[in-house]
Amino acid sequence: MRVMYLNPTGQLGGAESSLADMLASLRYAEPSWPLHLLAASDGPLIGRVRSLGVTAEVLPFPPAIARLGEHGAARSGGALRFAGQIALASAAAVRYRAALRRAIDAFDPAVVHTNGLKMHVLGAWGIGSSRRPGLVWHLHDYLGSRPMTTRLLRWHHGSPATVVTNSASVAADATRALANGTRVVTVRNGVDLDRFSMAGAHANLDAMSGLPQAPANTIRVGLVATLARWKGHATFLEAIARLPPHLPVRAYIVGDAVYQTEGSQYSLDELRQLARSLGVADCVGFTGFVHTPEATFRALQVVVHASTAPEPFGLVIAEAMACGRAVIVSNAGGAAELVTPGVDALVHTPGDAGDLSRQIAALAGDADLRARIGRAARATAERSFDRKRLATELIPIYRSISAA
Ligand code: GLC
Repeated sequence: MRVMYLNPTGQLGGAESSLADMLASLRYAEPSWPLHLLAASDGPLIGRVRSLGVTAEVLPFPPAIARLGEHGAARSGGALRFAGQIALASAAAVRYRAALRRAIDAFDPAVVHTNGLKMHVLGAWGIGSSRRPGLVWHLHDYLGSRPMTTRLLRWHHGSPATVVTNSASVAADATRALANGTRVVTVRNGVDLDRFSMAGAHANLDAMSGLPQAPANTIRVGLVATLARWKGHATFLEAIARLPPHLPVRAYIVGDAVYQTEGSQYSLDELRQLARSLGVADCVGFTGFVHTPEATFRALQVVVHASTAPEPFGLVIAEAMACGRAVIVSNAGGAAELVTPGVDALVHTPGDAGDLSRQIAALAGDADLRARIGRAARATAERSFDRKRLATELIPIYRSISAA
């Protein structure tokens, strides 16, 4: 079966790591299937999928489309601003659709699998009329908070898409938002359990952050995320500022701004400034983007997930658990489906810096608790997050909709 994937970026955020894991799983299960990726910008995703034997091409979005983002627009002027952005982008979108249609016709897939909101809209619109491939919209985020994007998706009049979601929480939201009987199936993300493992290289986070090496008894606590504002960097820094002073904690902000959408992300400078104003600048390191997250997780004793809005899934939670780390999860959305509080992770109330600070202190002060939770986390990952499961769940979906 020929399957073509459409992704709005070549950068490696959570939705792209998830895509790479899916492709790896499918290559393993069905080595003879031609799989092809079209991404709308260049970036590390391209090399990653090529190394799996998946062919890839880049068809760049015109800038007006690259900048579009309902979340960012909502912060800086609301629905009208987004409507204005869409109007500006529409001429570019017509041209892009024509190019996309040529690329889809050239590969001639039985299934088109789109992996991001812009590609759900453009992909549905770009599928030619001749031999219509089956269409999968893979939702990694909530539609409920993006009413205009949802309306664009509902306008799609072609053959109905099958919606795949990364959690039950996103599935419930999509069913509510689309409200048109679309088939919605949950396929939880998986990770590479050999790469994300307890043994292996440790990153030198101090050197990466340009900080002097911390003393040997230091407890390293890190937030690993893109710089999207809802990932809770401010909550994390406030929680660090509230820790009891005797705890030998050094905190790390791991990641960088990877997306191009307007207004939706912090800059590293803004976060450094916030750390200074909270008086924690000398105990917080900023590593920037990391290419080996597994080595980063192993270098942390405590991994913090601090999203202030419900997290659709939270791939870093699954990856850090697979590395046997003690994770503190923001207890909402799909992320809450991944853990059993007090057993394989601790949880805190989203956006509550005081609560998060108490959970960090509990783990920082208790090596036995960290070890117990870390072992249970690895066991959960082996049971639930093995990426081999992805092919098993996706193949029947592809077969049921393929044009072949
Ligand atoms: C998106 C979601 C995140 C999820 C990832 C992979 O980035 O926001 O929660 O882990 O996709 O599905």
